[in-house]
Amino acid sequence: MKFVLLLFPILLAQVNASSIRTVLDRVYDSEQADKGEKLYESRCVKCHEGNDPEGPVLIGRTFIERWREDDLEALFSYMSDRMPADEAGSLPSEEYLQLLSFLLRANSYASGTQPLTVDALPGILLVGADGPKPLPVNTLVQLVGCFTQISPEEWSLTQSTPPARSRKGKETTPEELKKSAAKPLGTHTFPLRNFTNISFDFKPDPLKGHKVQVKGVLIRQSGSDRINVIAIDTLAPTCGPGR
Ligand code: HEC
Repeated sequence: MKFVLLLFPILLAQVNASSIRTVLDRVYDSEQADKGEKLYESRCVKCHEGNDPEGPVLIGRTFIERWREDDLEALFSYMSDRMPADEAGSLPSEEYLQLLSFLLRANSYASGTQPLTVDALPGILLVGADGPKPLPVNTLVQLVGCFTQISPEEWSLTQSTPPARSRKGKETTPEELKKSAAKPLGTHTFPLRNFTNISFDFKPDPLKGHKVQVKGVLIRQSGSDRINVIAIDTLAPTCGPGR
């Protein structure tokens, strides 16, 4: 009994630490999804279903694998900037919310009693049916940490944030760097490889000890992760607690 009492606060603390809001938390209502279904039939089906569709299928595992462990904002902005592909961005944001709600329902995420709003999107994580999971391998990721020399030829990102999905690849906006600069450091270490992807004559030394943003491909080999780098940008000339 004593044992159980002692454990109880620890278990509670763990639950709290992992209480991120996800698409499993019934984040849209069924009226939105119904409207979204009609829009989907009239504006989207022709390219996303049928024999040999022009666009990828939006229902099922492959689709979820591409978008999971990212917030709903990412999928929403992709759709509202680029879809329907024959008339990109032509719908009001209310309708993109309805389409997103329909896609969630079609992918077996249950509806709730509150409608999905644009403001809520960045705070909701898209996850698979089993909840949050490590990112798939070969995902394009973005991290913030300290650029650290390990040996004459080896560099790592230390005190790194966990890898987050990146959708932009090599191109980097000032807005993105501002966001990264404001991120607190983390506790991860990732070996960095393939600097020649950045450019043939990339010289790491000037960035030594900087707080940096790294973009690259997440590689998992024998249980340890590393990053095949495609871009490094400095955020501050020093790196450490409080930066
Ligand atoms: C004219 C054809 C066309 C129409 C109409 C269209 N799409 Fe697409 N869609 C595409 C193509 C092609 C792609 C793949 C684009 C790429 O890979 O760059 C795509 C990609 C997508 C993706 C990303 C899929 C993934 O697996 O990553 C989503 C989400 C999407 N469309 C949603 C919609 C929605 C919602 C509508 C209706 C409002 C719509 N599309 C209408 C052609 C279309």
